[in-house]
Amino acid sequence: MFDAWLLEGFPWLTALFATTTGILVYREYRRHRRRHPQFPIAAVKLPEFDSRFRCDSVERARQGAVYFLGNPNNQLPATTSDEEAYVLACLSKDVRRIFEFGTCSGRTTYLMALNACSDAQITTLTLPPDDPSMQLHSEMNAHDVSHAVSESHFDQFVYSETEVAHKVEQLFQDSAALDVEPYRGKMDLIFIDGGHSYAYIKSDTEKALQMIAPGGCIVWHDYRGLRCRETRGVFRYLNELHRDLPLQRLGGTSLIAYRVPEDAAPKQAPLHGSQQAA
Ligand SMILES: C[S@@+](CC[C@H](N)C(=O)[O-])C[C@H]1O[C@@H](n2cnc3c(N)ncnc32)[C@H](O)[C@@H]1O
Repeated sequence: MFDAWLLEGFPWLTALFATTTGILVYREYRRHRRRHPQFPIAAVKLPEFDSRFRCDSVERARQGAVYFLGNPNNQLPATTSDEEAYVLACLSKDVRRIFEFGTCSGRTTYLMALNACSDAQITTLTLPPDDPSMQLHSEMNAHDVSHAVSESHFDQFVYSETEVAHKVEQLFQDSAALDVEPYRGKMDLIFIDGGHSYAYIKSDTEKALQMIAPGGCIVWHDYRGLRCRETRGVFRYLNELHRDLPLQRLGGTSLIAYRVPEDAAPKQAPLHGSQQAA
């Protein structure tokens, strides 16, 4: 009664009350969104994605054994988390042809080479450290450009001069200039972790879809939602691609995977046309 009288008598008090409530509700909503980012691509548990991740019996657990190299305290830059590295090592087991967009230190290249077949070939691509110019430069923002260039200083890699170096073909070139013909329809596993701008993730994916073999698997890194500025282009592009392809988010990681049907013909043309910079 007293409250009603007060609010009627003091319209400014009503306005203040409404504004304060609005601010508090909005803050709570923002906090909730930060804690629970919205991911349009649904997560799948690793054992449901691939039987190599099943360890519900001792025999099955052994199927998931891999050669591994950890990265304590993130001393190697811009690489995958240890859990993501394990997933990629496991997916590389018994695989013959692998392509990686984005070598950086070569840690993941090394893991894939260690775990792939003895006669496997892993082709990995990075910008030349002495000429990191990019064809799609005009479609990138300054932040994307400096990010790509800063990760391109390696000319010696973790796999260099190791027992698996002979399995690795190292390419130094802009991925937009990559000729897919020698690789068309041949790759069993492709890892996309090169340029993170919308333009590059789109270009690399369109090439990967032409290079993957029927039954093969494409894996993207850095699907992290809108909070992470460096990888917003990846998030936006993969959400669009998901309208055309049944992508899966690998639970507990920032990896997205697409398993190509056994009876699929390699893609000849881009899936859709929008090509704006992030
Ligand atoms: C995030 S790092 C890759 C990390 C690596 N895959 C790992 O797991 O350790 C990004 C790499 O992509 C490369 N890169 C960025 N833009 C590129 C482009 N346009 N063409 C080729 N490589 C590019 C950079 O040179 C760098 O080696």
